[in-house]
Amino acid sequence: MTHELDGIPTDAARIKALDKAHVFHSWSAQALIDPLPIASALGSHFTDYDGNTYLDFSSQLVNVNIGYQHPKLVAAIQEYAGRMTTIQPSFANDARSEAARLIAELAPGDLNRVFFTNGGAEATENAMRMARLHTGKHKVLAAYRSYHGATAGAITMTGDPRRWGAEPGMPGIVHYWGPYPYRSPFHSSSPQEESARALAHLRDLVMVEGASMIAAIILETVVGTNGILVPPPGYLAGVREICDEFGIVLIADEVMAGFGRCGEWFAVDRWGVIPDLITFAKGVNSGYIPVGGVVINDAIAATFDERVYPGGLTYSGHPLACASAVASINIFKEEGIVEHARSLGTDVIGPELAKIADRHPCVGEVRGLGVFWALELVKDRNTREPLVPYNAAGAAAGPMTEFAGACKQRGLWPFTHFNRTHVVPPCTISEAELREGLAILDEALEVTDRHYTGS
Ligand SMILES: Cc1ncc(COP(=O)(O)O)c(C=O)c1O
Repeated sequence: MTHELDGIPTDAARIKALDKAHVFHSWSAQALIDPLPIASALGSHFTDYDGNTYLDFSSQLVNVNIGYQHPKLVAAIQEYAGRMTTIQPSFANDARSEAARLIAELAPGDLNRVFFTNGGAEATENAMRMARLHTGKHKVLAAYRSYHGATAGAITMTGDPRRWGAEPGMPGIVHYWGPYPYRSPFHSSSPQEESARALAHLRDLVMVEGASMIAAIILETVVGTNGILVPPPGYLAGVREICDEFGIVLIADEVMAGFGRCGEWFAVDRWGVIPDLITFAKGVNSGYIPVGGVVINDAIAATFDERVYPGGLTYSGHPLACASAVASINIFKEEGIVEHARSLGTDVIGPELAKIADRHPCVGEVRGLGVFWALELVKDRNTREPLVPYNAAGAAAGPMTEFAGACKQRGLWPFTHFNRTHVVPPCTISEAELREGLAILDEALEVTDRHYTGS
């Protein structure tokens, strides 16, 4: 297959050669990667230059919630581009105002204002700055097993190995353990106990770090890349209580969990908890144009009524990005995409993954909600030894690489991280496509079962 770019014919060989020569890729040893050129995408599928089509169980980086090339979303971008492609943030703009109105209307409580960014990292970075200035305090508590982005503050808040290369990082950020019943850091034996112990641990941390020093607690409402960790009963409400008691800002990072992924507009809605700040990006417009932001409650917004907010971006509230967010939110409403995502979770993914777990000894646990699920793969169900070690790479990650290969061979593009595979297709995937993908997953897990050493 060949495309044309600005009059130049492009094919896989040319793309690969130029990529190798000139593109510097994220999170990669440049000489060890071989990026696959993608020619087109539609709905829940994308296609390479050799004509191989993949059903996308990753939604790219868990962001293409609306699926590829939604015609109304593409048309909205084209239409707005025909009128105005850019205007800087200090002007008012109809697309920006309307996007902010729609997002504020969807957000819980009095989160009524939106600061727009280009993506998730800038959102968490600015949320942290707002919390510090609002409280006059500087420490931030962030969870291990989390990801908040790759800029200086966001990567320091991150609780996974992606932080290591940026250390020592920003002073004043302290990590805590969030709940994870399957691998409990608290040796608990039930989700309720996990919740209580995680809250006691957080409370202790507040005590020893000093409530008078702590500006914010940040958490992923449902932890994403680090394992689809759904908070156990009472946990989010308990964190809210701690924040209220000690004058700490609660930041819910919904960059991955928001906008349909969990079968809710905002994941916090499922637990009825109202944070002070919510960060979003990804699913708000499915990455058709880069955008993210912070939804801000009235009290924090009021801090900056008479006082300058010391932060900004050339492209904050970019009109094309905002026009695409407006169109995407309206399409979600018209097509009932949030409800669709919720019912796919309860009616299809949950029950089917439970059956898959029954068939495959290597599946240690299945967990999730909406279109946000993880299978935790293990060598032994009794010891729960992970199929590959934490942060495994190269040969050590072999069984997971084999599994991913088996999926791709069968036309499924999986999402894998450490010893897990996540089932995170577009929220718009049809039931038939979903069942087809789950059947492939089922087959591919036979490869992983061969590495099972338990009884
Ligand atoms: C929960 C969460 N926060 C923040 C980010 C960073 O977003 P971005 O890559 O758009 O900067 C991500 C990205 O995966 C994320 O999952």
